[in-house]
Amino acid sequence: MDQPALNFNNWSTQCIERVNQFLEKHLPGADLEPAILHQAMRYAALSPGKRIRPLLCFASGHITGANFDNLSLASAAIELIHAYSLVHDDLPAMDNDVLRRGQPTCHVKFGEAIALLAGDTLQTLAFEWLSEDSQLNASQQLQLIQQLARASGSLGMGGGQAIDLTHVNQSMDLGLLEKMHQMKTGALIEASILMGAYCGQALTPNTENILKTIGRHLGLIFQIKDDLLDAQSDSATLGKTAGKDAARNKPTYVSIMGMNEAQRLLERLADETFLLIEQLGDSAYYLMQLSQLFVHRQH
Ligand code: IPE
Ligand code: IPE
Ligand code: MG
Ligand code: MG
Ligand code: MG
Repeated sequence: MDQPALNFNNWSTQCIERVNQFLEKHLPGADLEPAILHQAMRYAALSPGKRIRPLLCFASGHITGANFDNLSLASAAIELIHAYSLVHDDLPAMDNDVLRRGQPTCHVKFGEAIALLAGDTLQTLAFEWLSEDSQLNASQQLQLIQQLARASGSLGMGGGQAIDLTHVNQSMDLGLLEKMHQMKTGALIEASILMGAYCGQALTPNTENILKTIGRHLGLIFQIKDDLLDAQSDSATLGKTAGKDAARNKPTYVSIMGMNEAQRLLERLADETFLLIEQLGDSAYYLMQLSQLFVHRQH
């Protein structure tokens, strides 16, 4: 696969700058009343995450020739949903975590009530941004809104989180485990890829199907890797509490399959994914590089 003029590192730095600038500029100011809520929203969304979902959105937008402004908007909306999901995931009623992105979690810093509201309002802000006047046409806006809503709803991220939390201290068959991972993490990863593509020229049904399959695979790969890192790494490297899945007896790929089997499954899925990405040709170069990062990331 031929490398474009801009190498992967420079490209990803540029994309991350664009999405961060968008977030910085468009999130309500920290002084705007209710200031405590706006500070909590900014704290959650601007903290130093990897911005993997925005990068996926930019990478697939590259395939359909989408412009950077549209991709910045779409990827910022996706990152808001992700940030909201983390704030709620960390709440005492859910995973009860105190460390996120190397900092105290939102509820530790602002209290549970404000953290709950910050999650809620980050979520609605994502849809407000997508519906506002922009360079996207009305049917693209609708497509993006629908994609993001589905991915975060009860048959996507929210539903996956419900399966996760209702199966603490229980075993799970592999079918349900895969379904849970697809929903709680995979759906938003898949949506990030599709939304980036929808920002550009119309997709052929074949390309759209390939992108959907790549999205589903990468979503599963991402959460399997998250489960592995939770068991293998340390809190300083991860920026979040390591070992917490085992401590809370969570159903994960590591607890159900063991570390070696989970790693093998990850590699097998990754090989299948790389073959699919190759089918998309040179324009999928950034998507290929990013997918390799899904397998080899250290945090
Ligand atoms: C963590 O996501 C939560 C999962 C869905 C596994 P990331 O690993 O993308 O978190 P940040 O955004 O880099 O903090
Ligand atoms: C969370 O999965 C998935 C979300 C939808 C936020 P985890 O609970 O494993 O995520 P971390 O490990 O806390 O980031
Ligand atoms: Mg969780
Ligand atoms: Mg968690
Ligand atoms: Mg985890």
